[in-house]
Amino acid sequence: MELRHFLDLSDAGGNAIAAMINDAQDRKAARAGWPKGQADADAPLAGHTLAMIFEKNSTRTRVSFDMAMRQLGGSCFILEAGTSQLGRGESIADTARVLSRMADAIMIRTDDHAKIEEMARHATVPVINGLTDRSHPCQIVADLLTVIEYGKALPGLEVAWLGDGNNVLHSILEAAALMKFNVRVGVPAGYEPEAEFVDMARSAGVQVPVTQDAAEAISDADVVVTDTWVSMGQAHAEEKLAAMVPYRVDEALMARAKSDAIFLHCLPAHVGDEVSEGVFEGPQSVVFDEAENRIHGQKSVLLWCLGKLD
Ligand code: CP
Ligand code: NVA
Repeated sequence: MELRHFLDLSDAGGNAIAAMINDAQDRKAARAGWPKGQADADAPLAGHTLAMIFEKNSTRTRVSFDMAMRQLGGSCFILEAGTSQLGRGESIADTARVLSRMADAIMIRTDDHAKIEEMARHATVPVINGLTDRSHPCQIVADLLTVIEYGKALPGLEVAWLGDGNNVLHSILEAAALMKFNVRVGVPAGYEPEAEFVDMARSAGVQVPVTQDAAEAISDADVVVTDTWVSMGQAHAEEKLAAMVPYRVDEALMARAKSDAIFLHCLPAHVGDEVSEGVFEGPQSVVFDEAENRIHGQKSVLLWCLGKLD
């Protein structure tokens, strides 16, 4: 089998993403009410080990990959930049070759997307993107699962993104290209997503209007998404924060979306900045379902990477 890296959603493609979501739904339903650390009945990754490298902070990604491996019957270990030889300058290439001898897959969260590409070039086991400055594909598998759980079909869905044109938006745009939904991007001038991702979605035939008008972007949306205004590794610039204020998802903006629209946020949230407390805690917010779905989504990503899911 060809080595299956998961650096971005396109590595898997639309059919595999659909299979991942189906499998995640089935596995989630089959273990409802079980203790969270109990392995699934088929324990499909028994004997398998995941190496996780964190060069940036994480709560959800770290815990959900750990719990995903437990539920699949496998195990994992964590390398932190500060306490491993990576932090003292050992190369990505050598680290990739060593970890490939000691683990069955590698998950890495890093600031520089080039590092994960370098890891994939030298690893002989699958490499999974646990977030880079460019993209966050595992988050979007969980987000799509959440959207489907709330009864919304992906083709033709109207997703609105408000705020910073960041790594999470990039992966949403990639998902839009693969799963054929539209994304209205409401961002201030100078904070647009990279054109490569907008073009990718538009060339796949989906609509991606990019506007500075937050009300226009959110009107009649089925799904409303935002994220922190300052991603990890970015400077806290007063000018940027000021530019973002009109894009805060508050009750007045949310009222413009469809009445059954859901609100997503990958978390951690900065309530009062990118989202008002009323929306974050309100009935349309499904952010904790979304957070739980990181486990179920991660399991599907791992199964696909290790050739147990097509
Ligand atoms: N959403 C997400 O990736 O969360 P963490 O940064 O806590 O992993
Ligand atoms: N855009 C955020 C996502 C955190 C999960 C960041 O990169 O910090």
